[in-house]
Amino acid sequence: MPARDHLDDVLIYQIYPKSFRDGDGDGVGDLRGIIEGLPYIADLGVKWIWLSPIFASPMADNGYDVSDYTAINPLFGSMADFEDMVAAGKKHGIRFILDIALNHTSSAHPWFQAAVQDAHSPYRDWYHFRPAGAPANNWQSIFGGPAWSIAGDNGLQYLHLFDTSQPDLNWENPAVRAAIYQAMRFWLDKGIGGFRLDVVTVISKPPGLPDAPNPRPEALYPMLCRGPRLQEFLREMHREVFAHYDGLAIGEAPGVDPALAAKLVDPADPMLDLLYHFDLVAPARDAHGDWDRIAFKQVFSSWDSGIGSRGVNTIVLSNHDLGRVVSRFGDALGFLRESAKALQALVILSRGVPFIYQGDELGVPNTPFTRLEEIDDVWAKTTYRLKREAGASEDAAFAAAAAMTRDHARTPFAWDGSRHGGFTQAPAPWLKLHPDFASFHRAAQDNDEDSPLAFARALIALRQSDALWQRGTFTDLVPRDHDVFLFARRLDGREARVIINLRSCPAEAPEHLPIDRQDGLLLSNYRQPGSHEMLRPWEVRIWEVRVGDPAAP
Ligand code: NOJ
Repeated sequence: MPARDHLDDVLIYQIYPKSFRDGDGDGVGDLRGIIEGLPYIADLGVKWIWLSPIFASPMADNGYDVSDYTAINPLFGSMADFEDMVAAGKKHGIRFILDIALNHTSSAHPWFQAAVQDAHSPYRDWYHFRPAGAPANNWQSIFGGPAWSIAGDNGLQYLHLFDTSQPDLNWENPAVRAAIYQAMRFWLDKGIGGFRLDVVTVISKPPGLPDAPNPRPEALYPMLCRGPRLQEFLREMHREVFAHYDGLAIGEAPGVDPALAAKLVDPADPMLDLLYHFDLVAPARDAHGDWDRIAFKQVFSSWDSGIGSRGVNTIVLSNHDLGRVVSRFGDALGFLRESAKALQALVILSRGVPFIYQGDELGVPNTPFTRLEEIDDVWAKTTYRLKREAGASEDAAFAAAAAMTRDHARTPFAWDGSRHGGFTQAPAPWLKLHPDFASFHRAAQDNDEDSPLAFARALIALRQSDALWQRGTFTDLVPRDHDVFLFARRLDGREARVIINLRSCPAEAPEHLPIDRQDGLLLSNYRQPGSHEMLRPWEVRIWEVRVGDPAAP
């Protein structure tokens, strides 16, 4: 595990392979497409790419349902393509973090198939099976419905915290753990930069799988991530895998709180290098709603102080499971560009490792889906089915699915203004593009110095060029302000400030603001100079406090 300092300049760009770029013309993004896209990523200033899953999979949950942990999904290419991609990344100074779903496999995995078919198979103990009968406990699946389904002809039940096609592995069994570690070493031996460990915090289940006091998914996660052997398993994984490589262990950690997180990323007791949580996204889960700015800012502060300076925090506002960041937190209708840039500044300049999800740098908003057939996401389809079963009309059930579908984040990346945004040469992409891609595609923004893309490049360059942004302390200077986020970053007697108007109307500045370079202004998302007292909608200003300023530390 690298020492903490090695995390200073880490900034992670997440690629959803199916939607990034299609290199072979079948309508689906792939590894060749990623190779073609590397110069673009390198140009952004990114050195670490997290790839959503690329292992063999029936794709019921787009790769989070693995059927072979050491094979590349042919949809994405071959092992030779993978090796070329790692080598091409190296030329650009870019390392790949692979995504491994290790809490569960696909039901098509030979381990599960063998377990179902033969009661005496050793694989019976690799999953959580229970005899036929009423559901073995009251747990609800995260995707909706009971967490138990039936496999085979004799009523055998198995546990699945997610889709029915994603049976949970039994991490109590040492052979399961050994098999997963072996697969991880296989990829690390090929020179990858680490793993993003899918829902790793729920691998240790409570002994006997008892009923939960509250079986709803929101309550189950926090309960499950306190599984009695979680830390033991993570230490073992470190010992067996990460200790032998120069690679990052990044845990997806739904349900953890800052106190538990601080333990899991403490370099003195190696388990994970980083983890990311969902407390930051909780205040604005739905698009276009009003949301609580004060609560949001509190999450920044509580996680920052909770992790402290032993471990390193992460800043995650978006990923492949959420609506687009600008549609949830920003104003995609009135101030798309301004709010997209403001949110980028927040992610890139707060203290912690920033995660940028593909397309955020272009300010891509949510997609107006119009028919159920346009939706691919298994979670959204389950939502639709359960709503219908509960008596909702087709329209109401569709509206619910269209609002929550993860496909908002998965629409193909628009590279230029050509057909299908240059994403594919196929007659049709696997998922429709945002109908308005002509107004935000990459080529249009490339030479536009006022674009969200140009702003993202400038922010990344700023962060990567100065230890103050990487390591400086974080202080929210106006935690009770309902409109404005003003925070200070301090290191070695220096101080920089970021102020963001989190609203679509003007806001009064809580202090005298710099308006140009002579005042120390480093960056702003408005071209025209503003005033000392007022912020325009979603305005952000970033400045270094000069020694001798009244505001200096
Ligand atoms: C979290 C992943 O991010 C999500 O896409 C997936 O559906 C679940 N884990 C299950 O693997």
